[in-house]
Amino acid sequence: MRKNSKLLSIALATSLILGGLSVPVSAQQQTIAQQQIVKNPLDNKVINQIDVDNIYNTIDYLQQTPRVASTPEEYAAVQSIKEQFESYGYEAEVQEFQYMGYTAPHTVELTIDGTSLDTRTFTYTPSGDVQAPLEYVGQATEEELEGKDLSGKIALVQRGSNSFAEKVINAAEKGAEGVIIFNNTGGVLNGTLGTTDDRYIPAVSITQAQGNDLVTKLNNGETVTASLKVLGASAGLRSSHNVIASKKPTNKKKDNGNVITVTSHHDSVPGAPGANDNASGTAMVLELARVFKNLPTDTEIRFITFGAEELGLIGSRHYVANLPQAELDRIVANFNLDMVGSRDAGDLVVNTVDGQPNLVTELTQASSLRSNGEPTRLGRSGSSDHVPFAEAGIPAALFIHSPLEPWYHTPQDTIDKISKEKLQDVAQIVSTAVYDYTRFDNQTPKRPQKSNKQQLPEQFYFEESLQ
Ligand code: BES
Ligand code: ZN
Repeated sequence: MRKNSKLLSIALATSLILGGLSVPVSAQQQTIAQQQIVKNPLDNKVINQIDVDNIYNTIDYLQQTPRVASTPEEYAAVQSIKEQFESYGYEAEVQEFQYMGYTAPHTVELTIDGTSLDTRTFTYTPSGDVQAPLEYVGQATEEELEGKDLSGKIALVQRGSNSFAEKVINAAEKGAEGVIIFNNTGGVLNGTLGTTDDRYIPAVSITQAQGNDLVTKLNNGETVTASLKVLGASAGLRSSHNVIASKKPTNKKKDNGNVITVTSHHDSVPGAPGANDNASGTAMVLELARVFKNLPTDTEIRFITFGAEELGLIGSRHYVANLPQAELDRIVANFNLDMVGSRDAGDLVVNTVDGQPNLVTELTQASSLRSNGEPTRLGRSGSSDHVPFAEAGIPAALFIHSPLEPWYHTPQDTIDKISKEKLQDVAQIVSTAVYDYTRFDNQTPKRPQKSNKQQLPEQFYFEESLQ
Protein backbone atom coordinates (compact mmCIF):
# COMPACT_ATOMS: atom_id res chain seq x y z
CA MET A 1 0.00 0.00 0.00
CA ARG A 2 1.53 3.22 -1.13
CA LYS A 3 0.17 5.33 1.68
CA ASN A 4 1.58 2.95 4.25
CA SER A 5 4.93 2.69 2.60
CA LYS A 6 5.22 6.47 2.65
CA LEU A 7 4.17 6.62 6.29
CA LEU A 8 6.66 3.92 7.04
CA SER A 9 9.47 5.88 5.50
CA ILE A 10 8.58 8.91 7.62
CA ALA A 11 8.36 6.72 10.70
CA LEU A 12 11.68 5.15 9.82
CA ALA A 13 13.35 8.49 9.40
CA THR A 14 11.94 9.61 12.74
CA SER A 15 13.14 6.50 14.49
CA LEU A 16 16.59 6.93 13.01
CA ILE A 17 16.67 10.40 14.46
CA LEU A 18 15.05 9.74 17.83
CA GLY A 19 15.44 6.01 18.13
CA GLY A 20 17.36 4.47 20.99
CA LEU A 21 15.94 5.30 24.38
CA SER A 22 19.38 4.99 25.86
CA VAL A 23 20.59 8.10 24.06
CA PRO A 24 21.05 10.84 26.67
CA VAL A 25 18.71 13.81 26.28
CA SER A 26 21.45 16.21 25.30
CA ALA A 27 22.73 13.84 22.63
CA GLN A 28 19.19 13.33 21.40
CA GLN A 29 18.66 17.06 21.13
CA GLN A 30 21.88 17.31 19.25
CA THR A 31 20.64 14.66 16.84
CA ILE A 32 17.44 16.63 16.31
CA ALA A 33 19.51 19.76 15.75
CA GLN A 34 21.50 17.92 13.13
CA GLN A 35 18.30 16.76 11.49
CA GLN A 36 17.10 20.37 11.32
CA ILE A 37 19.72 21.20 8.80
CA VAL A 38 19.16 18.08 6.73
CA LYS A 39 17.39 19.53 3.74
CA ASN A 40 15.91 17.59 0.93
CA PRO A 41 17.32 19.12 -2.27
CA LEU A 42 14.16 18.03 -4.07
CA ASP A 43 12.19 20.50 -1.94
CA ASN A 44 13.88 23.29 -3.87
CA LYS A 45 12.17 22.20 -7.05
CA VAL A 46 8.94 23.56 -5.64
CA ILE A 47 10.23 26.16 -3.22
CA ASN A 48 12.20 27.96 -5.90
CA GLN A 49 9.12 28.33 -8.01
CA ILE A 50 6.79 29.82 -5.38
CA ASP A 51 6.23 33.48 -6.09
CA VAL A 52 4.63 34.99 -3.00
CA ASP A 53 3.73 38.13 -4.93
CA ASN A 54 1.39 36.05 -7.07
CA ILE A 55 -0.43 34.92 -3.93
CA TYR A 56 -0.54 38.43 -2.52
CA ASN A 57 -1.82 39.95 -5.76
CA THR A 58 -4.56 37.35 -6.10
CA ILE A 59 -5.67 38.04 -2.53
CA ASP A 60 -5.69 41.75 -3.32
CA TYR A 61 -7.88 41.14 -6.34
CA LEU A 62 -10.33 38.82 -4.58
CA GLN A 63 -10.73 40.98 -1.47
CA GLN A 64 -12.16 43.99 -3.31
CA THR A 65 -15.64 42.93 -2.21
CA PRO A 66 -17.26 40.37 0.07
CA ARG A 67 -17.99 37.12 -1.80
CA VAL A 68 -21.10 35.90 -0.06
CA ALA A 69 -22.37 32.57 -1.37
CA SER A 70 -24.76 32.85 -4.31
CA THR A 71 -24.20 36.58 -4.87
CA PRO A 72 -22.89 37.98 -8.17
CA GLU A 73 -19.65 38.76 -6.31
CA GLU A 74 -19.09 35.12 -5.42
CA TYR A 75 -19.79 34.17 -9.02
CA ALA A 76 -17.31 36.79 -10.27
CA ALA A 77 -14.70 35.22 -7.97
CA VAL A 78 -15.54 31.79 -9.39
CA GLN A 79 -15.00 33.07 -12.91
CA SER A 80 -11.69 34.72 -12.03
CA ILE A 81 -10.44 31.56 -10.28
CA LYS A 82 -11.42 29.49 -13.31
CA GLU A 83 -9.62 31.88 -15.64
CA GLN A 84 -6.53 31.87 -13.47
CA PHE A 85 -6.40 28.05 -13.52
CA GLU A 86 -6.81 28.21 -17.29
CA SER A 87 -4.03 30.76 -17.63
CA TYR A 88 -1.73 28.14 -16.03
CA GLY A 89 -2.74 25.58 -18.64
CA TYR A 90 -5.43 23.73 -16.68
CA GLU A 91 -8.90 22.80 -17.76
CA ALA A 92 -11.04 24.09 -14.93
CA GLU A 93 -14.44 22.64 -14.14
CA VAL A 94 -17.09 24.80 -12.52
CA GLN A 95 -19.35 22.51 -10.51
CA GLU A 96 -22.74 24.00 -9.71
CA PHE A 97 -24.75 22.94 -6.67
CA GLN A 98 -27.98 24.01 -5.06
CA TYR A 99 -29.08 24.41 -1.49
CA MET A 100 -31.93 25.89 0.46
CA GLY A 101 -30.81 29.39 1.26
CA TYR A 102 -32.14 31.94 3.67
CA THR A 103 -31.90 35.70 3.79
CA ALA A 104 -32.21 37.03 7.32
CA PRO A 105 -34.75 39.81 7.93
CA HIS A 106 -33.58 43.41 7.81
CA THR A 107 -36.15 44.44 10.44
CA VAL A 108 -37.18 42.61 13.59
CA GLU A 109 -39.41 44.41 16.08
CA LEU A 110 -41.38 43.16 19.04
CA THR A 111 -43.55 45.58 20.98
CA ILE A 112 -45.59 44.48 23.97
CA ASP A 113 -48.32 46.80 25.14
CA GLY A 114 -46.44 49.67 23.55
CA THR A 115 -42.99 48.82 24.97
CA SER A 116 -40.30 47.66 22.58
CA LEU A 117 -38.41 44.49 23.61
CA ASP A 118 -34.91 43.37 22.66
CA THR A 119 -35.49 40.31 20.49
CA ARG A 120 -33.81 37.84 18.11
CA THR A 121 -35.23 35.80 15.27
CA PHE A 122 -34.83 32.16 14.42
CA THR A 123 -33.02 31.33 11.21
CA TYR A 124 -35.61 30.28 8.61
CA THR A 125 -38.42 32.27 10.18
CA PRO A 126 -40.66 33.74 7.48
CA SER A 127 -41.51 37.43 7.36
CA GLY A 128 -44.76 38.69 8.84
CA ASP A 129 -46.43 41.68 10.47
CA VAL A 130 -48.79 40.57 13.22
CA GLN A 131 -50.69 42.29 16.04
CA ALA A 132 -52.48 39.96 18.42
CA PRO A 133 -53.01 39.06 22.07
CA LEU A 134 -50.53 36.63 23.62
CA GLU A 135 -51.45 33.19 24.86
CA TYR A 136 -49.01 31.15 26.96
CA VAL A 137 -48.88 27.54 25.80
CA GLY A 138 -46.03 26.05 27.85
CA GLN A 139 -43.53 24.32 25.60
CA ALA A 140 -46.02 23.95 22.74
CA THR A 141 -45.87 20.17 22.61
CA GLU A 142 -48.72 18.43 20.79
CA GLU A 143 -50.15 17.30 24.13
CA GLU A 144 -50.13 20.81 25.59
CA LEU A 145 -51.89 22.19 22.54
CA GLU A 146 -54.52 19.47 22.34
CA GLY A 147 -57.98 21.03 21.96
CA LYS A 148 -56.62 24.60 21.93
CA ASP A 149 -57.62 27.21 19.37
CA LEU A 150 -54.92 29.83 18.86
CA SER A 151 -56.65 31.64 16.01
CA GLY A 152 -55.94 35.34 16.16
CA LYS A 153 -53.25 34.81 18.82
CA ILE A 154 -49.51 35.01 19.19
CA ALA A 155 -48.25 31.94 21.08
CA LEU A 156 -45.85 32.54 23.96
CA VAL A 157 -43.72 29.40 24.32
CA GLN A 158 -40.99 28.22 26.66
CA ARG A 159 -37.80 26.66 25.29
CA GLY A 160 -37.29 22.94 25.99
CA SER A 161 -38.76 19.44 25.34
CA ASN A 162 -39.03 19.74 21.57
CA SER A 163 -37.33 21.58 18.73
CA PHE A 164 -38.04 25.20 17.88
CA ALA A 165 -39.40 24.03 14.52
CA GLU A 166 -41.88 21.66 16.22
CA LYS A 167 -43.09 24.43 18.53
CA VAL A 168 -43.68 26.77 15.59
CA ILE A 169 -45.47 24.15 13.51
CA ASN A 170 -47.60 22.96 16.45
CA ALA A 171 -48.70 26.53 17.22
CA ALA A 172 -49.32 27.31 13.55
CA GLU A 173 -51.48 24.23 13.18
CA LYS A 174 -53.68 25.50 16.01
CA GLY A 175 -54.15 28.77 14.12
CA ALA A 176 -51.54 31.00 15.81
CA GLU A 177 -50.27 33.96 13.77
CA GLY A 178 -46.85 34.27 15.38
CA VAL A 179 -44.62 32.65 18.01
CA ILE A 180 -42.45 34.11 20.76
CA ILE A 181 -40.12 31.57 22.37
CA PHE A 182 -38.42 32.52 25.64
CA ASN A 183 -35.19 31.02 26.86
CA ASN A 184 -35.04 28.46 29.68
CA THR A 185 -31.59 29.56 30.74
CA GLY A 186 -29.65 32.82 31.05
CA GLY A 187 -28.63 34.90 28.04
CA VAL A 188 -30.06 35.56 24.62
CA LEU A 189 -31.37 32.75 22.46
CA ASN A 190 -29.92 32.41 18.95
CA GLY A 191 -31.80 29.55 17.39
CA THR A 192 -32.64 28.03 14.07
CA LEU A 193 -35.69 26.25 12.74
CA GLY A 194 -33.21 24.01 10.90
CA THR A 195 -34.66 24.31 7.43
CA THR A 196 -37.51 25.93 5.55
CA ASP A 197 -41.09 24.76 5.92
CA ASP A 198 -44.27 26.19 4.41
CA ARG A 199 -46.10 25.70 7.71
CA TYR A 200 -43.89 28.17 9.59
CA ILE A 201 -45.24 31.45 10.99
CA PRO A 202 -43.02 34.35 12.16
CA ALA A 203 -40.97 33.32 15.18
CA VAL A 204 -38.77 35.39 17.49
CA SER A 205 -36.98 34.79 20.77
CA ILE A 206 -36.73 36.70 24.04
CA THR A 207 -34.84 36.07 27.28
CA GLN A 208 -35.97 33.93 30.17
CA ALA A 209 -36.58 37.02 32.34
CA GLN A 210 -38.68 38.73 29.66
CA GLY A 211 -40.69 35.54 29.17
CA ASN A 212 -41.32 34.91 32.85
CA ASP A 213 -42.52 38.48 33.21
CA LEU A 214 -45.11 37.97 30.47
CA VAL A 215 -46.22 34.62 31.89
CA THR A 216 -46.84 36.28 35.26
CA LYS A 217 -49.00 38.96 33.66
CA LEU A 218 -51.01 36.39 31.71
CA ASN A 219 -51.43 34.21 34.80
CA ASN A 220 -52.81 37.27 36.59
CA GLY A 221 -55.54 37.43 33.96
CA GLU A 222 -54.14 40.46 32.14
CA THR A 223 -54.57 40.78 28.38
CA VAL A 224 -51.17 41.32 26.80
CA THR A 225 -51.06 42.46 23.19
CA ALA A 226 -47.95 42.03 21.08
CA SER A 227 -46.98 43.57 17.80
CA LEU A 228 -44.49 41.41 15.92
CA LYS A 229 -42.70 42.57 12.78
CA VAL A 230 -40.27 40.41 10.80
CA LEU A 231 -39.51 42.08 7.49
CA GLY A 232 -37.25 41.13 4.58
CA ALA A 233 -36.73 37.44 5.38
CA SER A 234 -36.84 35.08 2.44
CA ALA A 235 -36.02 31.45 1.81
CA GLY A 236 -35.52 29.60 -1.44
CA LEU A 237 -33.29 27.46 -3.58
CA ARG A 238 -29.91 29.11 -4.28
CA SER A 239 -26.99 27.98 -6.36
CA SER A 240 -23.26 28.29 -5.80
CA HIS A 241 -20.17 26.77 -7.40
CA ASN A 242 -16.95 24.86 -6.78
CA VAL A 243 -13.97 25.23 -9.10
CA ILE A 244 -11.87 22.13 -9.83
CA ALA A 245 -8.58 21.81 -11.71
CA SER A 246 -6.64 18.60 -11.91
CA LYS A 247 -2.94 17.99 -12.45
CA LYS A 248 -2.79 14.44 -13.75
CA PRO A 249 0.22 12.16 -13.15
CA THR A 250 2.96 12.82 -15.64
CA ASN A 251 2.63 9.53 -17.47
CA LYS A 252 0.19 6.66 -17.38
CA LYS A 253 2.82 4.01 -16.60
CA LYS A 254 3.83 5.68 -13.36
CA ASP A 255 0.30 6.66 -12.33
CA ASN A 256 -0.24 5.16 -8.88
CA GLY A 257 -3.98 5.85 -9.04
CA ASN A 258 -3.93 8.09 -5.97
CA VAL A 259 -5.27 11.61 -5.67
CA ILE A 260 -4.21 14.39 -3.30
CA THR A 261 -6.68 17.26 -2.92
CA VAL A 262 -5.51 20.78 -2.13
CA THR A 263 -8.52 22.88 -1.22
CA SER A 264 -9.84 26.22 0.03
CA HIS A 265 -13.15 28.08 0.13
CA HIS A 266 -13.59 31.19 -1.95
CA ASP A 267 -16.76 32.60 -0.35
CA SER A 268 -16.82 35.05 2.54
CA VAL A 269 -19.28 36.15 5.21
CA PRO A 270 -21.44 39.23 4.56
CA GLY A 271 -19.63 42.53 5.04
CA ALA A 272 -16.17 40.95 5.19
CA PRO A 273 -13.77 41.35 2.28
CA GLY A 274 -12.29 38.07 3.46
CA ALA A 275 -8.69 38.80 2.55
CA ASN A 276 -7.54 36.19 5.02
CA ASP A 277 -10.84 34.22 5.23
CA ASN A 278 -10.37 32.95 2.66
CA ALA A 279 -8.88 34.78 -0.31
CA SER A 280 -5.55 33.73 1.25
CA GLY A 281 -6.19 29.99 0.97
CA THR A 282 -7.71 30.38 -2.48
CA ALA A 283 -4.78 32.42 -3.79
CA MET A 284 -2.40 29.81 -2.38
CA VAL A 285 -4.28 26.94 -4.03
CA LEU A 286 -3.92 28.83 -7.32
CA GLU A 287 -0.20 29.46 -6.85
CA LEU A 288 0.43 25.81 -5.92
CA ALA A 289 -1.46 24.81 -9.07
CA ARG A 290 0.91 27.01 -11.07
CA VAL A 291 3.99 25.64 -9.31
CA PHE A 292 3.01 22.00 -9.82
CA LYS A 293 1.80 22.35 -13.39
CA ASN A 294 4.97 21.11 -15.06
CA LEU A 295 6.56 19.09 -12.28
CA PRO A 296 6.76 15.35 -12.83
CA THR A 297 4.42 13.57 -10.40
CA ASP A 298 3.04 10.06 -10.08
CA THR A 299 -0.09 11.11 -8.18
CA GLU A 300 -2.99 13.25 -9.35
CA ILE A 301 -3.12 16.59 -7.53
CA ARG A 302 -6.61 18.06 -7.53
CA PHE A 303 -6.94 21.75 -6.75
CA ILE A 304 -10.42 22.76 -5.62
CA THR A 305 -11.96 25.97 -4.34
CA PHE A 306 -15.35 25.53 -2.69
CA GLY A 307 -18.39 27.81 -2.56
CA ALA A 308 -20.77 28.33 0.36
CA GLU A 309 -18.38 27.15 3.07
CA GLU A 310 -19.51 29.92 5.38
CA LEU A 311 -23.08 28.63 5.23
CA GLY A 312 -22.05 25.24 6.58
CA LEU A 313 -19.46 23.58 4.30
CA ILE A 314 -22.08 23.25 1.58
CA GLY A 315 -19.75 23.20 -1.44
CA SER A 316 -17.32 20.67 0.01
CA ARG A 317 -20.16 18.47 1.27
CA HIS A 318 -21.63 18.52 -2.20
CA TYR A 319 -18.29 17.66 -3.78
CA VAL A 320 -17.60 14.71 -1.48
CA ALA A 321 -21.19 13.44 -1.51
CA ASN A 322 -21.23 13.33 -5.30
CA LEU A 323 -18.08 11.27 -5.76
CA PRO A 324 -18.62 7.56 -6.35
CA GLN A 325 -17.05 5.35 -3.67
CA ALA A 326 -14.34 4.19 -6.07
CA GLU A 327 -13.33 7.82 -6.62
CA LEU A 328 -13.36 8.57 -2.89
CA ASP A 329 -11.14 5.56 -2.34
CA ARG A 330 -8.52 7.08 -4.65
CA ILE A 331 -8.21 10.24 -2.53
CA VAL A 332 -5.38 9.67 -0.07
CA ALA A 333 -5.16 13.15 1.44
CA ASN A 334 -6.86 16.52 1.76
CA PHE A 335 -4.76 19.61 2.45
CA ASN A 336 -7.32 22.33 3.26
CA LEU A 337 -6.00 25.90 3.35
CA ASP A 338 -8.25 28.30 5.26
CA MET A 339 -6.86 31.57 6.68
CA VAL A 340 -3.19 31.19 5.90
CA GLY A 341 -1.84 34.76 5.70
CA SER A 342 -2.83 36.94 8.62
CA ARG A 343 -0.14 39.24 9.99
CA ASP A 344 -2.02 39.37 13.30
CA ALA A 345 -2.78 35.70 13.89
CA GLY A 346 -0.55 33.25 15.75
CA ASP A 347 1.51 30.33 14.51
CA LEU A 348 0.60 27.83 11.85
CA VAL A 349 -1.25 24.77 13.12
CA VAL A 350 -2.31 21.71 11.19
CA ASN A 351 -5.69 20.64 12.53
CA THR A 352 -7.44 17.32 12.10
CA VAL A 353 -11.05 16.85 13.18
CA ASP A 354 -10.12 14.30 15.82
CA GLY A 355 -6.78 15.81 16.80
CA GLN A 356 -4.99 12.63 15.71
CA PRO A 357 -2.09 12.55 13.26
CA ASN A 358 -2.70 11.27 9.75
CA LEU A 359 -0.90 11.21 6.40
CA VAL A 360 -1.41 14.97 5.92
CA THR A 361 -0.02 15.92 9.31
CA GLU A 362 2.86 13.44 9.00
CA LEU A 363 3.89 14.86 5.63
CA THR A 364 3.45 18.40 6.98
CA GLN A 365 5.44 17.87 10.14
CA ALA A 366 8.23 16.30 8.13
CA SER A 367 8.28 19.14 5.60
CA SER A 368 8.09 21.90 8.23
CA LEU A 369 10.94 20.27 10.12
CA ARG A 370 13.00 20.50 6.93
CA SER A 371 11.85 24.08 6.25
CA ASN A 372 11.89 25.61 9.70
CA GLY A 373 13.71 23.22 11.94
CA GLU A 374 10.53 22.47 13.87
CA PRO A 375 7.38 20.56 13.04
CA THR A 376 4.11 22.45 12.62
CA ARG A 377 1.95 22.00 15.72
CA LEU A 378 -0.83 19.45 15.44
CA GLY A 379 -4.25 20.62 16.65
CA ARG A 380 -7.90 19.74 16.49
CA SER A 381 -10.64 21.60 14.67
CA GLY A 382 -13.66 21.18 12.48
CA SER A 383 -15.29 24.30 11.01
CA SER A 384 -13.87 24.07 7.51
CA ASP A 385 -13.87 22.06 4.29
CA HIS A 386 -11.60 19.26 5.49
CA VAL A 387 -14.54 17.93 7.56
CA PRO A 388 -16.48 16.21 4.73
CA PHE A 389 -13.25 14.53 3.58
CA ALA A 390 -12.50 13.32 7.11
CA GLU A 391 -16.05 12.06 7.46
CA ALA A 392 -15.51 10.03 4.30
CA GLY A 393 -12.47 8.38 5.92
CA ILE A 394 -9.88 10.42 4.01
CA PRO A 395 -6.82 11.74 5.90
CA ALA A 396 -7.58 15.47 5.98
CA ALA A 397 -6.31 18.55 7.79
CA LEU A 398 -6.92 22.27 8.05
CA PHE A 399 -4.02 24.72 7.75
CA ILE A 400 -4.74 27.84 9.82
CA HIS A 401 -2.91 30.23 12.13
CA SER A 402 -3.86 30.19 15.78
CA PRO A 403 -4.95 32.18 17.72
CA LEU A 404 -7.12 33.91 15.13
CA GLU A 405 -6.66 37.56 14.27
CA PRO A 406 -9.16 40.10 15.67
CA TRP A 407 -10.35 40.87 12.11
CA TYR A 408 -11.86 37.41 11.62
CA HIS A 409 -15.31 37.76 9.96
CA THR A 410 -15.18 41.57 10.12
CA PRO A 411 -15.01 44.37 7.52
CA GLN A 412 -11.37 44.79 8.62
CA ASP A 413 -10.28 41.48 7.09
CA THR A 414 -8.42 43.35 4.34
CA ILE A 415 -5.19 43.13 2.34
CA ASP A 416 -3.21 45.41 4.66
CA LYS A 417 -3.37 42.68 7.35
CA ILE A 418 -1.81 40.07 5.07
CA SER A 419 1.77 39.02 5.70
CA LYS A 420 3.90 37.83 2.80
CA GLU A 421 6.16 36.02 5.28
CA LYS A 422 3.25 33.97 6.60
CA LEU A 423 2.11 33.19 3.05
CA GLN A 424 5.60 32.14 2.01
CA ASP A 425 5.97 29.89 5.06
CA VAL A 426 2.67 28.05 4.54
CA ALA A 427 3.11 27.74 0.78
CA GLN A 428 6.54 26.27 1.32
CA ILE A 429 5.44 23.77 3.97
CA VAL A 430 2.38 22.61 2.05
CA SER A 431 4.02 22.41 -1.36
CA THR A 432 6.99 20.42 -0.12
CA ALA A 433 4.68 18.11 1.84
CA VAL A 434 2.61 17.50 -1.29
CA TYR A 435 5.69 17.08 -3.46
CA ASP A 436 7.21 14.67 -1.00
CA TYR A 437 4.31 12.33 -1.67
CA THR A 438 3.61 13.01 -5.32
CA ARG A 439 7.03 13.37 -6.89
CA PHE A 440 8.13 10.95 -9.50
CA ASP A 441 10.04 8.07 -8.05
CA ASN A 442 10.47 4.52 -9.11
CA GLN A 443 9.32 2.79 -5.97
CA THR A 444 5.65 3.27 -6.31
CA PRO A 445 3.42 0.27 -5.79
CA LYS A 446 -0.03 0.53 -7.36
CA ARG A 447 -2.95 2.21 -5.75
CA PRO A 448 -4.01 1.16 -2.25
CA GLN A 449 -7.40 -0.22 -1.34
CA LYS A 450 -8.52 1.98 1.49
CA SER A 451 -10.47 0.39 4.26
CA ASN A 452 -9.90 2.80 7.10
CA LYS A 453 -13.22 4.62 7.07
CA GLN A 454 -13.45 6.54 10.32
CA GLN A 455 -16.57 7.00 12.40
CA LEU A 456 -16.60 10.63 13.38
CA PRO A 457 -19.08 12.64 15.41
CA GLU A 458 -21.52 14.38 13.12
CA GLN A 459 -21.71 17.99 14.14
CA PHE A 460 -18.52 19.95 13.85
CA TYR A 461 -19.84 23.36 13.22
CA PHE A 462 -23.37 24.21 14.30
CA GLU A 463 -23.48 27.39 16.32
CA GLU A 464 -27.24 27.94 16.49
CA SER A 465 -29.39 25.67 18.61
CA LEU A 466 -32.15 23.61 17.10
CA GLN A 467 -33.82 23.07 20.46
N1 BES B 1 -12.12 30.24 8.01
C1 BES B 1 -12.97 29.70 9.00
C2 BES B 1 -12.28 28.51 9.58
C3 BES B 1 -12.15 28.48 11.02
C4 BES B 1 -11.85 27.26 11.56
C5 BES B 1 -12.30 29.57 11.85
C6 BES B 1 -11.66 27.13 12.91
C7 BES B 1 -12.13 29.43 13.19
C8 BES B 1 -11.81 28.22 13.73
C9 BES B 1 -14.25 29.28 8.36
O1 BES B 1 -14.49 30.00 7.19
C10 BES B 1 -15.39 29.58 9.27
O2 BES B 1 -15.65 30.72 9.52
N2 BES B 1 -16.06 28.54 9.75
C11 BES B 1 -17.23 28.70 10.54
C12 BES B 1 -18.02 27.43 10.55
C13 BES B 1 -18.57 27.08 9.21
C14 BES B 1 -18.95 25.64 9.15
C15 BES B 1 -19.75 27.94 8.88
C16 BES B 1 -16.89 29.01 11.98
O3 BES B 1 -15.88 28.55 12.49
O4 BES B 1 -17.66 29.73 12.61
ZN1 ZN C 1 -15.06 32.04 7.83
